[in-house]
Amino acid sequence: MLVIEAQNMAKSDSNEDGFTITDNKTGKSYDLPSRTGRMGNRLIDISKLYPQTGILTYDPGFSSTAACKSSITHIDGNKGVLLHRGYAIDELAMNSDYMEVCYLLLYGELPTPEQKEDFDNDIKNHTLLHEQLIRFYSGFMRSAHPMAVMVGVVGALSAFYHDQMDITDIDERRLAAHRIIAKMPTIGAYAYKYSLGMAFPMPRNQYTYSENLLQMMFSNPAEDYEINPVLARAIDRLLILHADHEQNASTSTVRLAGSSGANPYACVASGIASLWGPAHGGANEAVLKMLGEIGSVKNIQKYVKKAQDPDDPFRLMGFGHRVYKSYDPRATVMRESCHEVLQVLGIKDPKLELAMELEQIALNDPYFVDKKLYPNVDFYSGIIMSALGFPTSMFTVMFAIGRTVGWISHWKEMLVDDEHRIGRPRQLYLGEEKRPYVPMDKRGHTDKKTGWSWLWGGKR
Ligand code: SDX
Repeated sequence: MLVIEAQNMAKSDSNEDGFTITDNKTGKSYDLPSRTGRMGNRLIDISKLYPQTGILTYDPGFSSTAACKSSITHIDGNKGVLLHRGYAIDELAMNSDYMEVCYLLLYGELPTPEQKEDFDNDIKNHTLLHEQLIRFYSGFMRSAHPMAVMVGVVGALSAFYHDQMDITDIDERRLAAHRIIAKMPTIGAYAYKYSLGMAFPMPRNQYTYSENLLQMMFSNPAEDYEINPVLARAIDRLLILHADHEQNASTSTVRLAGSSGANPYACVASGIASLWGPAHGGANEAVLKMLGEIGSVKNIQKYVKKAQDPDDPFRLMGFGHRVYKSYDPRATVMRESCHEVLQVLGIKDPKLELAMELEQIALNDPYFVDKKLYPNVDFYSGIIMSALGFPTSMFTVMFAIGRTVGWISHWKEMLVDDEHRIGRPRQLYLGEEKRPYVPMDKRGHTDKKTGWSWLWGGKR
């Protein structure tokens, strides 16, 4: 067994606040340096552990492992704090707009008025899709899930922007970042329009980013379309709340794909694929389905109990988080936004009442309290998006549109990190030891001694 002790050695020049591990099998001890960030937990730097000791570490799901260093976002899961470049998410959601948050995540500072205007205009210059790319949609069934379309079309962008791309060039990286941020609303809206069999509206430069998304999603070519400022503001806030979140599964996927030097559009497509899962960005769609299944307040207790049954795969979607062991600050803003949007639109959505009742019951249930399971960003977002007119199948597309700036900001940051290398995790091998090849005429029987069945390729 390995024992790790934090160094409390007298002040010396070596490893004074580091760690020493002792291999109880051999009695050998090894010093490991510590790393401390501006905020957050202390880390044991194990990057030299294997070369020094031949020992690997094991951490499925990376619950205790930092895969990189970053300056973009910080989460304090115990305090329910989320900072983007030091600015709290609730302050950004209340005072900023999505384009300003994109600039902040990409470049580290809030933009001056001139910088904001230049950035807005540069994004507007890249909202159109190549006519050949638009033909990709016709290859999908109209009933295809929009996230499948997003993975395909965004991945196909790499075929349009690859030959001349030099990702070691800062201007090329900036162009790729702006391009993908600009095109995501168009690609997402077209996935929705395609599912309806409707024509693809052009992005319009007189609109803001969120207004454009609104009109491309909901305009009808036979009528003038009037932007509802409340809806546009609600969408903008939704995009801010989804913009970035440290090393979540999809961002880690983009980083891992990008670590090999892959095309950034292909990397973002890999992030979209990861986000689609119901344990991650697909949870917002799953929350609405769950609320529909629960149906009414009188059934809540039954489902809260189901969620606690270890033999029942049912989980309370929109609850729990790997990092937040307190309330997800985005869920707080989302819930307030929910009330605002429904009130302004004059919508009484029984799903909101149901969700709030479910939240109250769950938050007072010992199982959820003990496991520190609180509502996360996905718990209320679906109710807002439903009120804004988005079909359930488009909820994760909206998440992907918002998160693209986070993905591409981390991709950019990784490429200039002097410590970045191609990601290549190791494993704990439990498979067969070396064994001789079995000729075809010898297969199909069970080895009496080991019970190994050549026919089934395993123990029967
Ligand atoms: C997002 O990482 C990010 O930052 C993600 C995200 C982002 O912005 O990028 O915040 C977005 O993905 C939010 C999460 C959306 N997913 C859901 O709402 C799906 C439901 N939640 C869970 O599946 C779960 O909580 C996760 C996936 C979010 C977190 O899983 P973990 O950290 O691996 O925790 P776990 O599965 O090990 O659960 C710990 C315990 C388990 O019980 P025990 O085995 O210890 O007895 O808590 C239980 C779980 O069974 N548990 C739940 C539960 N979530 C965890 N039980 C019932 N309902 C739940 N929702």
